[in-house]
Formats: sequence, structure tokens, C-alpha cells
Amino acid sequence: MRRLAVSLFVVGFMLALSVGVPSVSADNGPHVKGMGGMLTSNCAGCHRAHTGQAADLLKASSVEALCYTCHGSAAGGSSLDVRDGVGYPEAGESGKEDSTERPEGDVKALRGGGFKYAMIETNTEKAEYEGGIKSETQEAFEAIGSNKRLVSGEIPTASSGREVTSSHSTNGSPQIAWGNGAIDASTTEWKNESEAERKASYGATVELTCASCHNPHGDGDYRILKGLPGGGEGNTYNTTEVNITEPSSPNNPKQYTTSNYWETWEPYNKNFRYRISEWCSTCHTRLLTTGSTATTPSGDAVFEYRHTTNFTQAQYEKIEKEYVSAEHPDGTKTEPNCIQCHVAHGTDATMEGWAAGVPLPNGETPTHSETGGGGESFLLRVDNRGTCQMCHYTSVG
Ligand code: HEC
Ligand code: HEC
Ligand code: HEC
Ligand code: HEC
Ligand code: HEC
Ligand code: HEC
Repeated sequence: MRRLAVSLFVVGFMLALSVGVPSVSADNGPHVKGMGGMLTSNCAGCHRAHTGQAADLLKASSVEALCYTCHGSAAGGSSLDVRDGVGYPEAGESGKEDSTERPEGDVKALRGGGFKYAMIETNTEKAEYEGGIKSETQEAFEAIGSNKRLVSGEIPTASSGREVTSSHSTNGSPQIAWGNGAIDASTTEWKNESEAERKASYGATVELTCASCHNPHGDGDYRILKGLPGGGEGNTYNTTEVNITEPSSPNNPKQYTTSNYWETWEPYNKNFRYRISEWCSTCHTRLLTTGSTATTPSGDAVFEYRHTTNFTQAQYEKIEKEYVSAEHPDGTKTEPNCIQCHVAHGTDATMEGWAAGVPLPNGETPTHSETGGGGESFLLRVDNRGTCQMCHYTSVG
């Protein structure tokens, strides 16, 4: 009897393992590497054999429209509504392989922000240094003193969606991938340059869609991000593949939502933090910088002095080792990378004063966002230049 009880326990335990633990596949939904086998139904989620509505036999009128059939407002098919910037309950938590309708309940904010609405509370950020919480009082400034080491930061989520003021475009319209290409010492005014000169000065033109960044067929990488964004035939603007996924990492469970937009790192895939700057820079080449690039000129006419945006993996690991403690399990997160200052999809941050007039590198005013609003918020996580104040404590008063 005893023996039976033990073996039943073991069987139960093994069942629990196989049922409760997310699939070993790093992908999710219909986007699984291998596509679910020879008799898969997945293709029909996106393709029609004779009645395609867009090139590549897509069942919707464009790539963006296709993605929004499942990831858009009020759509079924996925619990991740990237248009409204919300994740429905269980998104990523259960490791489920497919969903046909959205469960009811409280929604949470998606890590990437959103394309039409986003739930980032962009005006109440908090920064805690070793000497205390950063505030506008002279006392706090003095208490924190010269040892300005950030131990934790918080950018809360908003209770409901707010209109997006800037986002990556996803409708396939031609857009400049700012900084794409090699250092270019010469530039004249935008309006006087030829197309080739503009490309060299500012960056190549890219027709951005969801599938420029994500691989709809699954690839085993974090968020099915393409190693070579853009990709496809005729892609000459980037050539260096960046693997965003930790080698032999489970990349599971998935945490698509967040309650703190300062916490950009990902516990189940550290490579996201180590490699995201390199990944973004497959398109924004000249923005990738390590070391004292804020004080050493690059030789480029437009992108001449540049804020540090990357550390080597060894540097990241060293910083983690030195600063992570029981009290501060996340350690200090003061190393700037693209995703610390920007979200990947779109933001609801608003810009005033000096921050409202910042042009694009070519002098033009940024306008892209589905709601047509704001425009100069550059996908930033905090209003105005509150982002700078998270890490630098320059003065008070
Ligand atoms: C989640 C939606 C989705 C699913 C599921 C899907 N596809 Fe696709 N497929 C696309 C999109 C979008 C493109 C266009 C790719 C682009 O624009 O980069 C595409 C392109 C293609 C192409 C053109 C070449 C290429 O790889 O880009 C083929 C062939 C293809 N799909 C076959 C399939 C087959 C077979 C299945 C099922 C095993 C499948 N697809 C499942 C969305 C999907
Ligand atoms: C037929 C429905 C459907 C379509 C169409 C669809 N998706 Fe998904 N997608 C899902 C589901 C289901 C998941 C899993 C998350 C969940 O439980 O909702 C998912 C997950 C994802 C993820 C997270 C993957 C990961 O590695 O965790 C990304 C990114 C994504 N989709 C992008 C896209 C893009 C880009 C398109 C358009 C090319 C697209 N999806 C079209 C249903 C769909
Ligand atoms: C410029 C590249 C880029 C484009 C364009 C893009 N994505 Fe993403 N997407 C990302 C990155 C990077 C992440 C990971 C963000 C993170 O974890 O902080 C992501 C995350 C996601 C997620 C997971 C939820 C989240 O918000 O983190 C989904 C689902 C998704 N994208 C779908 C889409 C769909 C659908 C489109 C088109 C409407 C799209 N993406 C366009 C880069 C892009
Ligand atoms: C596939 C190429 C590609 C990748 C990868 C890419 N971008 Fe972009 N990015 C663009 C293009 C094209 C634009 C021009 C604006 C648009 O999308 O309409 C742009 C614009 C921007 C802007 C300015 C937005 C504005 O309002 O003018 C920011 C900020 C930005 N990207 C940040 C990022 C970050 C952060 C990442 C990585 C998470 C990233 N990009 C990855 C192509 C890319
Ligand atoms: C320290 C914060 C910070 C980091 C890190 C950062 N950015 Fe930015 N980024 C900004 C701000 C602020 C702007 C708005 C323009 C300005 O004030 O220079 C901006 C503007 C942009 C633009 C619009 C073009 C331009 O240069 O004005 C792009 C594209 C962009 N960032 C991409 C990236 C990418 C890609 C990375 C990582 C390689 C990155 N950013 C890292 C703060 C940052
Ligand atoms: C995520 C933290 C972080 C954010 C946010 C941030 N910085 Fe920095 N900044 C740093 C670090 C770290 C350095 C030193 C880089 C190095 O030398 O390796 C630095 C360096 C600089 C420098 C060069 C001078 C020096 O002390 O080396 C200037 C100027 C600067 N930052 C301005 C800004 C501005 C303006 C913003 C907002 C757009 C900003 N920073 C946002 C962390 C940050």
C-alpha cells in the first residue's frame, strides 16, 4: 500500500509538472517555431489559399491589419491588445498555447506601451538613491550627497489607457530609421541634400510593419523578435544578426505586463537587457555607443556626441554582482540602454516647455502616432525630460 501511495504521488507530481509548467517552446500562440507540426491549423489563422487580401496570401488587408485581428482593440484571438497597451488576465501567466476569447477581469499594462493608447503614468516617477528618496528639497539633495547611486526606480502604470503621443509606425509607410548606416562626416541642410546624401546623413528609409520586428512564424527568440529586423529580400540597411535570447534560456514564463515601467529588464531572459541596445541598433546603427561618447566626438556630422546607450555583457554582470543585495534584489539599474529611456511600441508621455520643441535629426517635427497627438515624446517613458532626472541628480530648486 505504502509503495502504491508513493508511486501515485510520483505520477501525480509528474502530471503536475507536465500540465502546470509552461511549454518548453520559447514562442507562444500561433507563432511557434516548427509551426505545430505537419497537420497544423496555425497557417489558417493568417493565410488564405485563394482569397488572400494582401501579398503573401494574408487573410487581412495588410500585415498591421492581420496582427490587429488578434492583437487589436476588442479583438479575440489573443489576450495581448497592443493597440490599447493592455494585457488581459492570464496573458503569459498560464503558458497557454492558444486563446480564442479574452478572459474577463482587470487588465494590466503591456511592457511595450501601446500604439493607440498606453497605460504609462508618465508624471509620478520615483527614484531612490542610497542616501534617500530623490525630491526637490535641499535636505534630500544634501542627504544623498555625492554618492548618487540609484537603488530603485518606479514609473507606475495608469489606471486606464491614455492617448499615445508617439509610436513606431506599423502601417508600412516609408519612414527614416534614424541613425541607420555608417558614420558620415559630411552633411548639408536636409532640404539641399539628394536622396543618397540624406540616407547617408540620417538613415535609410524603412517600410515599418509589425513583421519588420517580429517573426510571425515564430523563431524561438524573446517575443519572436527577428535576429535581423526588417529582413526579407532587398534589405540592405542592416546585416548583423542580434540574438536577443539567452542561449539555453527557458525564456519562460512570459511576463508581458508590468506594474513598473522603470523595470525594463526581464528575469526570464537576461539577454534582453544585455542585447536590446544592439538589437534596436540593427536599424538605429549610429545610436549604439559604449563609454565616453558624450565627451568624445564620433566624427559624424549629425550624431556627433552621443549619450552612452550600451554596456558590454561583462560590464552588466559586474554591476549586478556589485550592487544586487537582499534589500535591493534588482540592484542598481542605472546603466542606460535603449529600453530604459524608450518603450518599444508607443508612449502616452507629454512634452511641454523646451521638451515640446525638439525636432527630428533632420529638423522636421515628428508627427507619427495613430491618434495624431503630441508628436515630440520620442517613445519616452516619462514626461518632458523626467527620464534624465531618474539617473542624474544635477541640482535642486
Ligand atoms: C501569425 C500569422 C501567421 C501565421 C500563423 C502563419 N503565417 Fe505565413 N506569413 C505571415 C506574414 C505576416 C507573412 C509576411 C511576412 C513579412 O511580411 O515579413 C507570411 C509569409 C509567409 C510566406 C512567404 C515567405 C516568408 O516566409 O516570408 C510563406 C511561404 C508562409 N507565410 C507560409 C506559412 C505557412 C505554411 C504557415 C503555417 C505552417 C504560416 N505561414 C503561418 C503570417 C503568418
Ligand atoms: C490568429 C490570432 C493571431 C494573429 C493573427 C496574430 N497573433 Fe500574435 N499571438 C497570438 C496568441 C494567441 C499569442 C499568445 C499570447 C496569448 O495568450 O494571447 C500571441 C503572441 C504574440 C507575441 C508574443 C510571442 C512570445 O514570444 O511570447 C507576439 C510578439 C505576437 N503575438 C506578435 C504578432 C504579430 C506581429 C502578428 C502579425 C504578423 C500577430 N502576432 C498575429 C495570436 C495571434
Ligand atoms: C520597432 C520594432 C517593433 C515593432 C514595429 C513592433 N514591435 Fe512588438 N515588440 C517589440 C519589442 C522590442 C518588444 C518587447 C518589449 C519589452 O519587453 O519591453 C515587443 C513586444 C510585443 C508584444 C508583447 C507585449 C508587450 O507589449 O511587451 C506583442 C504582443 C507585440 N510586440 C506585438 C506587436 C504587433 C502586433 C505590432 C504591430 C502592430 C508590433 N508588435 C510592432 C518590437 C516591435
Ligand atoms: C526595423 C527597424 C527598426 C528597429 C528594429 C527599431 N526601430 Fe526605432 N525607428 C525605426 C523607424 C523607421 C523610425 C521612424 C519613425 C516611425 O516609425 O514612424 C523609428 C523611430 C524611432 C524613434 C523616434 C520616434 C519618433 O516619434 O520620432 C525612437 C525613439 C525609436 N525608433 C526607438 C527605438 C528603440 C528603443 C528600438 C528597440 C526597442 C527601435 N527603435 C528599434 C525603425 C526601427
Ligand atoms: C538616456 C536616455 C536615452 C537612451 C539610453 C536612449 N535614448 Fe533615444 N532618445 C532620448 C531622448 C531624450 C530623445 C529625444 C531627442 C533628444 O532630446 O535628443 C531620444 C530620441 C531618439 C530617437 C529620435 C531621433 C533622435 O536622435 O532624436 C531615436 C531613433 C532614438 N532615440 C533611439 C534610441 C535607441 C535605438 C537607443 C539605444 C541604442 C536609445 N535611443 C537610447 C533618450 C534616450
Ligand atoms: C539610465 C540612467 C541614465 C539616464 C536615464 C540618463 N543618463 Fe546621462 N549618463 C548616465 C551614465 C551612467 C553616464 C556615464 C556614461 C559613461 O561614461 O559610461 C551618463 C552620462 C551623461 C553625460 C556625460 C557627462 C558625464 O557625466 O559623463 C551627460 C551630459 C548626460 N549623461 C546627460 C543626460 C541627459 C540629458 C539625459 C536625459 C535625456 C540623461 N543623461 C539620462 C546615466 C543616465
